[in-house]
Amino acid sequence: MRCINDIYVIEFCVGYTLFIFFITLMFFRLIQYCDQMTTKHDQNLIQQLEQLHKTLHFHNHRYYVLDDPELPDSEYDKLLRELQAIEAQHPELITPDSPSQRVGAPPLSEFTQVTHLLPMLSLGNAFNEEEVMAFEKRLLDRLTVTDDNGSSDEAIPEATPLEYAVEPKLDGLAVSLLYENGVLVQGATRGDGETGENITENVRTINSIPLKLTGDNIPTTLEVRGEIYMPKASFEALNAKAREQGEKTFVNPRNAAAGSIRQLDSKITASRNLAMYCYATGRVVGFEMPKKHSESLQQLAKWGFRICPDSKVVNGAKGCLEYFEEIGAKRDELSYDIDGVVFKINSFELQQQLGFVSRAPRWAIAHKFPAQEEMTLLKDVEFQVGRTGALTPVARLEPVFVGGVTVTNATLHNMDEIERKDVRIGDTVIVRRAGDVIPEVARVVNSKRPSDVKHIVMPSQCPVCESSVIQIEGEAVSRCSGGLICPAQQKQAIKHFASRKALDIDGLGDKLVEQLFDENLIKNISDLYSLKSSQLSQLERMGEKSAENLIAALEASKTPTLARFIYSMGIREVGETTAKSLANHYRSLEAIKQADEESLQQVNDVGPIVASHIVSFFKQQHNNQIIEALINSGVSPILPAKISEDALPLTGKTYVITGTLSDIGRSEAKSQLEALGAKVSGSVSKNTTALIAGEKAGSKLTKAQNLGVEVLDEEGMKKLLK
Ligand code: IVH
Repeated sequence: MRCINDIYVIEFCVGYTLFIFFITLMFFRLIQYCDQMTTKHDQNLIQQLEQLHKTLHFHNHRYYVLDDPELPDSEYDKLLRELQAIEAQHPELITPDSPSQRVGAPPLSEFTQVTHLLPMLSLGNAFNEEEVMAFEKRLLDRLTVTDDNGSSDEAIPEATPLEYAVEPKLDGLAVSLLYENGVLVQGATRGDGETGENITENVRTINSIPLKLTGDNIPTTLEVRGEIYMPKASFEALNAKAREQGEKTFVNPRNAAAGSIRQLDSKITASRNLAMYCYATGRVVGFEMPKKHSESLQQLAKWGFRICPDSKVVNGAKGCLEYFEEIGAKRDELSYDIDGVVFKINSFELQQQLGFVSRAPRWAIAHKFPAQEEMTLLKDVEFQVGRTGALTPVARLEPVFVGGVTVTNATLHNMDEIERKDVRIGDTVIVRRAGDVIPEVARVVNSKRPSDVKHIVMPSQCPVCESSVIQIEGEAVSRCSGGLICPAQQKQAIKHFASRKALDIDGLGDKLVEQLFDENLIKNISDLYSLKSSQLSQLERMGEKSAENLIAALEASKTPTLARFIYSMGIREVGETTAKSLANHYRSLEAIKQADEESLQQVNDVGPIVASHIVSFFKQQHNNQIIEALINSGVSPILPAKISEDALPLTGKTYVITGTLSDIGRSEAKSQLEALGAKVSGSVSKNTTALIAGEKAGSKLTKAQNLGVEVLDEEGMKKLLK
């Protein structure tokens, strides 16, 4: 009996265990099922989002890039709202390339700086037919290099017409866009060409800029350059609205575009109607670009960029000049503002052979429209004293509206120019403005000259410090001899030091420098770093916050690059490019100070005159004292990173090339030597490292032999280049 009972108990236990096991199993299966359902739901959602992105990108491109919309606006808005609704519920699914991300981001406190992967260049100008012809001649001369014996490397036979890509010169602001794996990751202003301001959030709001590239063969890295501009109609509408609301209007579409893009609050940018045309690439990785500029623009269009429809390809300077006329004739009808046209050699190979001078390519030029001109009365002439003491005659004019701005002052350049144009006080004159440059008095309307006009005379004493005014033989300018005792020169030196290309001291504009100087708070640049916020806040129109900001900006300016620091010293004839060359060559301030004229002339861009200005600058005790004071206040220029000897093994060496080189042209040889850090000079001296003598070398070879300078043949040069 007991045995039977035990069997029941065992059966019951086994049954119960099985039951529990079964229930648990079911429970887990149920959880698994639910989980699968949610994943499926997410995947559906992701697919739906992807589809919406695709559709919206497609219609955005049709509307803003191709100017050929397919959907009515209401349908587009519906799709966008659908996307926004999903994103509102699932913010974790918002990606930077989502079409909803064009409305602007939270405001920034400042723009950060970004370095372009390849520098952004500028363009040389031509103002008339002769200058365009001269441009083409320069190109042909360089491409058909002829040596002093008349033999030539024949890169391009002279009869071959050069092919040019020609484009309108858009009057907006240059930007660089960066795409990583097809997604827009950065937008930047041109800045100084090497570093610009990070305006990513702002460019995202511009509908004609793709957030994500379309098509095939997407590069891993792509830098695209172009012009952001405000269409003329949008500019008119913006100003009309501003007038209606009693707000300030913009003077022209370019200012409106610049003012709209340099907004810390990208929502303001989003509210302005900006557009972009792309006209070049910077660095491209992971894709081989076509061989011609015009084809590369077509490739950009395939990836979704907006390309100017008025660009084309022409032959020779003649074709360029015809294009200039053609665009000039339809300038007013264009929907965008232009200030000329650009001619670019179409072949990338030839572009590379031609290379660059300073910051501008040899292979391109801007042919500008004639500057805008207006007539007005010259009421008086005053003399302004510049940083180097040069006295510039400035015309005080009856206000006149020229090219979008009111002009009251215009430069008369110098006394030679006044004489050449025969300008007198009381004359009716033509005032000219071209782009951003200072307006000038172009000529006199002789038929309107009254009988009581007065001659313009250079004062014998400086109008500011009363030191005598001197004119050096052969120079067109007269200078105040007061040097740094002249308050005008002192002020200009401080303005230059604080300016954008120098130490870029935010908030320290020309007016504030005048004010600080006139209030005796500063006498020279080193005094800037002893300023106290309590002193500043007592100045008129300066609050506590601005005072603190200025102190912070001064603090932030203490680590300029060596190149900027040298430029900021305002040494005569030492511009940005020369300052950079000096910094790269000597790599320390001390080395530049010690350099003699002979050594300085080994530096690119430095000739005998510049060298003598540099030496005499550092000879003056006063300048060295100021530099020492700056360094004692904590100013510490950043020295250029030492480029390894392997990277630029020919740094400091000077070569001269002569005769015919049979394998590579002389210009190519020059470029290759320069790329390795060498300087290539036109004449042999005892400083020449070696003469590279091709066939039929002439007088240069004899000179080199007489001076005992090493002579290399073409083979020797090839070894060197290797
Ligand atoms: S090409 C290598 N193409 O002109 C040359 N520039 O003075 C780089 N610009 O900063 C520029 N339209 O803002 C190029 N079709 C065009 C242009 C253009 C306007 C502006 C650009 C640049 C300036 C150069």
